[in-house]
Amino acid sequence: MEMGLALFLRVAWIAGTLPILIASVPWSRLHWFHDVVLGFAKRGKTMQPSSSKFTVPQKFFCHFYALAVIWTTFLLVATWLYAYNMAPFVSEPLQLSRFTSYLTGGSHSFWFHRSRSMKREQRYRSWLSVFLLLLMEAQVLRRLYESIYVFKFSPSARMHIFGYLTGLFFYTAAPLSLCSTYVLEVFQLATNLIQELIVKGKDQMQFSESNWWGFVNPLLKLKWHAWLGGAIFLWGWIHQRRCHAILGLARENSDQIDDYVIPYGDWFKYVSSPHYLAEIVMYGGLLVGSGCSDMTMWLLFAFVVANLAFAAAETHRWYLRKFDNYPRERFAIIPFVY
Ligand SMILES: NC(=O)c1ccc[n+]([C@@H]2O[C@H](COP(=O)([O-])OP(=O)(O)OC[C@H]3O[C@@H](n4cnc5c(N)ncnc54)[C@H](OP(=O)(O)O)[C@@H]3O)[C@@H](O)[C@H]2O)c1
Repeated sequence: MEMGLALFLRVAWIAGTLPILIASVPWSRLHWFHDVVLGFAKRGKTMQPSSSKFTVPQKFFCHFYALAVIWTTFLLVATWLYAYNMAPFVSEPLQLSRFTSYLTGGSHSFWFHRSRSMKREQRYRSWLSVFLLLLMEAQVLRRLYESIYVFKFSPSARMHIFGYLTGLFFYTAAPLSLCSTYVLEVFQLATNLIQELIVKGKDQMQFSESNWWGFVNPLLKLKWHAWLGGAIFLWGWIHQRRCHAILGLARENSDQIDDYVIPYGDWFKYVSSPHYLAEIVMYGGLLVGSGCSDMTMWLLFAFVVANLAFAAAETHRWYLRKFDNYPRERFAIIPFVY
């Protein structure tokens, strides 16, 4: 079943990436296809205000992050509990799991025996997922805050309904891709814990103080690639926050809420869409953090790169058309390359 989900996610990322790649082929016979894909991908300044058919306000972006915060938090908590129960570092199985096991008719030491029989690699990967989901949580929380308090969406900015639905799918599937290998077991554990909570009550589910160390300690023992990935992610996270602040302040001195200006500062020095570049850096960080051995993570990364590079190319063309004094040395998204 887990393999079924991983397969579904892989097919979904390929299905999202392929049309963008085909639309990017510079072949005159494919121009019509490029225009179709672009029609779905356009939003905000690159979308004509007149083309409001099948569109929703661009400020609906906050729906993506509201969904992402709820979903990622759930996956994070459930995966963390799952990893804890599988952890080889824990000498005593969690009190909770004994209740779970009792409720499901298993033996008290079900999880303990299971953890012993599990491959070391599998246990390690569950802690790695907790780490990756923590990074994702940091991202979606910041994006929710920014889409409410930092960006000043113009009332006329719209996005295609297809782009909106793609965004909702993306923020469901991306956190899932970080823990797809054993997500079914994670769901099962979460269901059992909720049942316990209802049947046994909160008091019996409390952990002793020493248990909390077991929730953090394995994270500190992750391999170097996790920390390198975390550092890359943080680098992208910081620059995206700065670039979003620049965009948020761009209309500060303008009379009109839907005025567009040439942004300056931070990575805007090099590219027209540094916030997209930062997003790619972050997903690159997740990929490196995962150890680069999971095909689902590679395909997720490929989708993010294709999707944002495609949107950045259109944004770059829009800036060049709109402003005569646009800095010509700027690239679209990859400094000195594209
Ligand atoms: N992971 C993914 O696949 C994915 C996909 C899409 C987006 N994202 C992320 O979501 C974030 C937002 O993306 P987006 O496409 O909505 O960004 P965007 O089109 O650049 O818009 C962001 C905000 O900045 C404003 N803005 C943009 N350029 C401006 C300018 N020149 N002058 C004044 N204001 C300007 C926009 O105003 P308007 O309201 O007038 O448009 C909007 O409020 C990005 O960081 C991106 O990486 C990720």
